[in-house]
Amino acid sequence: MTHSSVLSSVKFALVAILCSTLINRGFGQKSGNLVPIKDDDADRSTLPTILIACLVRNKAHTLPYFLTTLENLDYPQDRIAIWIKSDHNEDNTTQILRTWGQEVQDWGLYHSVSIEIIDGPPFRQSDQETAFTWSSKRFQLIMRLKEEAVKVAKKIWADYIFFIDADVFLVNNQTLKNLVAKQKDLVAPMLLSGGMYSNFWGGMKDYYYVRSDNYKDILDSKITGCFDVPLIHSAVLMNIRKKNLPNYHPVSDEPEDDIIRFAVSAKAKGFTMEVCNDMEYGYVLSPMEDESSFNADNIRLQNLRVEIAVYWPDGLPVSDLLKQFVQQQNPPSTIGFDQTYLINLQRRPDRLQKMDHALEILGIDYTLIEAVDGT
Ligand SMILES: *[C@@H]1O[C@H](CO)[C@@H](O)[C@H](O)[C@H]1NC(C)=O
Ligand SMILES: *[C@@H]1O[C@H](CO)[C@@H](O)[C@H](O)[C@H]1NC(C)=O
Repeated sequence: MTHSSVLSSVKFALVAILCSTLINRGFGQKSGNLVPIKDDDADRSTLPTILIACLVRNKAHTLPYFLTTLENLDYPQDRIAIWIKSDHNEDNTTQILRTWGQEVQDWGLYHSVSIEIIDGPPFRQSDQETAFTWSSKRFQLIMRLKEEAVKVAKKIWADYIFFIDADVFLVNNQTLKNLVAKQKDLVAPMLLSGGMYSNFWGGMKDYYYVRSDNYKDILDSKITGCFDVPLIHSAVLMNIRKKNLPNYHPVSDEPEDDIIRFAVSAKAKGFTMEVCNDMEYGYVLSPMEDESSFNADNIRLQNLRVEIAVYWPDGLPVSDLLKQFVQQQNPPSTIGFDQTYLINLQRRPDRLQKMDHALEILGIDYTLIEAVDGT
């Protein structure tokens, strides 16, 4: 048996006010509002409204970072509705979502917050061998929930739906604003992984991934802008004011996979999918294999955090509330050596700061030695 616990906070007072204006103006003109709106930000109450939809499973290791970057987005929170569903967790995902959900509910800043958690047992679908198996039942559930998210978004008069995975870290807080300003129907911010993996396909053949000639140039930002590509995933903004939206119904004999079905449907309905790399937006963890373990994914997360720390001075931030859920790494050590030394020029404190951050993430205890300029 499963039971479902719904943590659903709707700003009742706000909704009551909104209802009278919804019919004409949508999601919520500012009125008796809860969000202080700065004078220089006159456009805040006219920005499009967005339902952020997120399906989460077994992401306790990424959630503290994911939720922090989500709440840091520079976008008026009263124009965002949060919709999260989580099921079949074998780690602390449920606890983290409940704690965070309670907090954002107390803030009362978002238009609405809906977090629904189905906790087990059973902890897996009957056709899942490991916690990470992409089984048929799992895909079916994901596709059903994503369609449900679109229905909810339309019902609350959102202009856009933003599907985002819990292993995406939008370190650039301007991401949502920038994407929305592009006024595209289906668009993704290009995400980096530290390797060749990203959240778009350059080519598709027989419904599967193929590396296109321009893939690496886009990934490395040798060419910049927004590019028509056959498939985007993991962070996708869709304009739901459009008619005849893409969905997850098979068009032909494509595989039962949510991202492929959606891309094939989009193409069949005449939508273009675009990925944009006009600025640095954020990062994505490369996907887990079926036989992955929680530990393996944690190590990948650690590596990605080091990668991010190199380019973003603050690294991947975590809110005070969520710090308690950051999984403790091994205590700092000299990794089997008698000593580990870090050599740094005193006049380069910037480098020292980055290295210190990276070594802290990696759990390496070092002794600092000052470098001298040689000739
Ligand atoms: C957005 O991030 C930048 C640093 O990248 C920071 O300086 C700025 O204050 C942030 N803006 C908001 C509104 O959080
Ligand atoms: C879940 O969180 C609790 C406390 O918040 C912690 O004691 C426990 O070790 C965590 N479990 C896992 C599997 O991380």
